[in-house]
Amino acid sequence: MPEKTFARLSAIAVIASSSILASGQSAPATLTIHPDQPISTVSPTLYGLMTEEINYSYDGGLYAEMVRNRTLRGDWSGINYWYLVEDGNAQAKMAADESTGPSAALPKSLKLDIEKADAKNQAGVLNVGWWGMALHRNTAYKGSFYAKAGSADIGPVTVSLVNDNTGKAVATATVNEIGTDWKQHTFVLKTGAIETSATNHLVITAGHPGTLWLQLVSLFPPTYHDRTNGFRTDLMEKMAAMHPAFLRMPGGNYLEGDHINERFDWKKTIGPLVDRPTHRSPWNYQSSDGMGLLEFLGWCEDLHMQPLLAVYGGYSLSQEHVNPGADLEPYVQDALDEIEYVTGGPETKWGAERAKDGHPAPFKLSYVEIGNEDWFDRSGSYDARFTQFYKAIKAKYPDLQLIATAPVKGVKPDVIDEHYYVRATQNFHDANHYDASDGKSPSAQHWDSGHYDKVDRNGPKIFVGEWATREGSPTPNMGAALGDAAWMTGLERNSDLVVMSAYAPLLVRVDPGGMQWETDLIGYNAMKSYGSPAYYAQVMFASYLGDHTVASELENGGSKLFYSATLNKAKKQLYLKLVNASSEAQPVDLAMPGAHVAPNAKVVRLSAPDTQTTNSIDDPTRLVPVESTLHNVSSKLKVILPAYSIQVLQIDLQ
Ligand code: AHR
Repeated sequence: MPEKTFARLSAIAVIASSSILASGQSAPATLTIHPDQPISTVSPTLYGLMTEEINYSYDGGLYAEMVRNRTLRGDWSGINYWYLVEDGNAQAKMAADESTGPSAALPKSLKLDIEKADAKNQAGVLNVGWWGMALHRNTAYKGSFYAKAGSADIGPVTVSLVNDNTGKAVATATVNEIGTDWKQHTFVLKTGAIETSATNHLVITAGHPGTLWLQLVSLFPPTYHDRTNGFRTDLMEKMAAMHPAFLRMPGGNYLEGDHINERFDWKKTIGPLVDRPTHRSPWNYQSSDGMGLLEFLGWCEDLHMQPLLAVYGGYSLSQEHVNPGADLEPYVQDALDEIEYVTGGPETKWGAERAKDGHPAPFKLSYVEIGNEDWFDRSGSYDARFTQFYKAIKAKYPDLQLIATAPVKGVKPDVIDEHYYVRATQNFHDANHYDASDGKSPSAQHWDSGHYDKVDRNGPKIFVGEWATREGSPTPNMGAALGDAAWMTGLERNSDLVVMSAYAPLLVRVDPGGMQWETDLIGYNAMKSYGSPAYYAQVMFASYLGDHTVASELENGGSKLFYSATLNKAKKQLYLKLVNASSEAQPVDLAMPGAHVAPNAKVVRLSAPDTQTTNSIDDPTRLVPVESTLHNVSSKLKVILPAYSIQVLQIDLQ
């Protein structure tokens, strides 16, 4: 069968075909679908995003800032990622200065003492960026820094982007009038007809003896939707193709921090960047907090997602917790303030703050999650902590749906967040985890024994807030994608109960030292990014979601065939996801009794010769979905699913 992989998701090639696929042999399975018998609703929010500051997801990732350690933090080894520059005969010293900075949040700075320099022999500092700085031809890079000088005669400061290999400047700007008080200066670095590369760095120099202090040095490429302080376009486009309905913000351990004072303290992440003190993330690096609360909300706006706000619940990872009662009250108030910052009108205290930060319009919010993975809290305080948050939030915001991260008895949560990190085999065994007919959850597959051990359809709704088949590094291979797809068929079948889900982690920097957690959906370096086979499985499932499940029966399916059947009532389309995780082709006799179907159906298929095949930064599109057309479709047809394949059939009903 002729086929063509597509280079971009938006440019899917359509190929004619008289059958889905050829070859292979297992005993035929019989799948009967009843498009006229809707069973249960499919949640429109089933697929969303979960991200946190891990694997350089924000700094060095989605957040487009090109300067690494822009707040010039020092340690025993110096000021990381910054180096002294002495051109020709210039002489200078650089050091961390703890006595001066542009704001209370950033009270320190880099001090450059230039002993000898002139226009041709300049002295200064350079920044190596996040594993380099990607530069494209004819592009404007917008920068800024805070500076002050020992005396006004320090002269102009030169800012350049320099190619690592040639040592030549590829873009230069001059900043004049550095005064003796702290002030922000801006510049634009415009490249010409350069060769695109990531082997570049930023240099800031002066040609006159004197002292120069620097802080908050920043440089941005063009961003997605031209957002100031915004996001990398390629990563945003990849996320957009996933059709995410929500963003869990911020998710995971990053919300909690290792210690209470290292939590995501949202009030320190809003307002001008110079007023954000930065903080250490539990994944062992400093977060610039350039991705603060309002930036998360902007990200939601850009991708048309609803925010799922995660508020700090009074537990941090080193077994530190805040006692329920009076001790917890300030944290509960903080959460109420945070909700007001997101949803309040400009007449409210925190709504006014948001308006001052540049966004007068309130955001729509339906879900608030309290904490993260609180089953880790060995003090057993979560029940009382959740209850205290629940009562306070519901009293002020009765319509908000509140999500618990562990079982509680004090109140009934609206939703429970469950997490699963498993191997593909476990997902094959557990694909019916939430099926009503089953009614039990196989505890062996549980991430932690603290979860509910029964799927109670009268209980809270389920948010599978983190899940992944963990096979492949840095990004999942085809075997993992098959495990994911099998699992997603179960989520879709049970989406009356499972109202939301999110793969985690989403992003990974693939440069050496960039990964803290293996098996992440999308990989990238400074120049480019790629989607794993599991990423494409997500794109396929979310692109053809449907709004109702329909009645169906499978016979003779064996242990490696998984499916879900959903209907888009308004479009009169049936979406059939078929996953063959076996090493043999699987014939399927498909029947849709009484259905009137259009003669041509769309097929989107991802398949591989084995489970280990994968995509990588150097081979980014080895496996991508291929679209084709199935002709002569009727209410009875035979399809052959190749070994190791995931496919979506879109059948138009007449
Ligand atoms: O996704 C990685 C981590 O796994 C998250 O930070 C945490 O919530 C979970 O344990």
